[in-house]
Amino acid sequence: PMGHASGVWRFESIVMPGAGDAIVSHPEGNTPLLSRAAISRYTGCDGLLIKHEGHNPTGSFKDRGMTVGTTQAVRIGASAVACASTGNTSAALASYAAQAGIPGLVFVPAGKIALGKLAQTLSYGARTLLVKGDFDECLRLVQQASRELGIYLLNSINPWRVEGQKTIVFELLQQLGWHAPDFIVLPAGNLGNTAAFGKALREAHALGLIAKMPRLVSVQAAGAAPFARAFREDFATRYTVQAETIATAIRIGDPASWDRAVRAIRETNGLVISATDDEIIDAKVTIDAAGVGCEPASAASVAGVRQLVRDGIIGAGDTVVAVLTGHVLKDPGMLVELHQREDYPRANRPVEIDATVSAVEAV
Ligand code: F0G
Repeated sequence: PMGHASGVWRFESIVMPGAGDAIVSHPEGNTPLLSRAAISRYTGCDGLLIKHEGHNPTGSFKDRGMTVGTTQAVRIGASAVACASTGNTSAALASYAAQAGIPGLVFVPAGKIALGKLAQTLSYGARTLLVKGDFDECLRLVQQASRELGIYLLNSINPWRVEGQKTIVFELLQQLGWHAPDFIVLPAGNLGNTAAFGKALREAHALGLIAKMPRLVSVQAAGAAPFARAFREDFATRYTVQAETIATAIRIGDPASWDRAVRAIRETNGLVISATDDEIIDAKVTIDAAGVGCEPASAASVAGVRQLVRDGIIGAGDTVVAVLTGHVLKDPGMLVELHQREDYPRANRPVEIDATVSAVEAV
């Protein structure tokens, strides 16, 4: 069956049993699990492994959810599909909708999505609405519009998205020979992925595929951290905040999958922490300089590992999988600006020269 080439459909029986060959697949998944000395050293964790979801066809983990969500859209004969997005979901939706031949409609916060993501969304042909408001307003609007206009909603509140994203965990466990790591660390915004990881771990444990439960760690950007705040108070209150962070992918103040994510953290004895923009950039520059590369939001996971080692929660010998959620080229504008800054000590400033060998030699 064609699904065998896909790191998602390889797990068909625990994702969408019976999908068979009626799938919309690029394929996707089968992303590498990397070990890089420079990144391990930076975090202080020798047993750090990097699950790089930027290697997916549209450059983020969203492809795993979108292949399943779009397959379901075809199954029910949807006339159009829609999502609200900080950019990656919209790029994935646009690509999979194009492949399925279904019109795609995306709602993104005007001026607040990274250049690469906007470019992809336009190029793959989705109808793109630049909403004068933030992601949280886009999500409210798309939910109402889908209900009233009969469009199939493909945000991660759609359970099929979660089923696909579960395979990040199944795949990394398989790569580890079904030996569960001590920690799995991921960036968190709308909390769909946290919910998916919790469900995957619950199922893997119930099926006897892993003997122990890894601790799940969700890392939010400090300027968009309602879930981290609630965690410190044992989730007594559901907070919303006015979100602001350089990591635009996770610039979300009112996460949709709150309750399912609470369950994921509780069932895995997990943690929710936050990283400042400076910590995120510092981690990102380290990951990039190791030749691996990721988009800003992704680096929150590595910044989180560094914090937890410093705080004595992660031990130097623990096995830790940090998930990088998106590709370095997703946010080129931010990078070019960063590396031209005079006041940033880690900037790799480009050098303009005359077209002579002596100019080259001088550099
Ligand atoms: N990392 C990246 C690169 C993302 O794009 C997102 C979410 C996350 C992490 C957080 O995952 O929302 O499930 O907690 N991006 C969504 C989008 C919101 O529209 O592309 P989450």
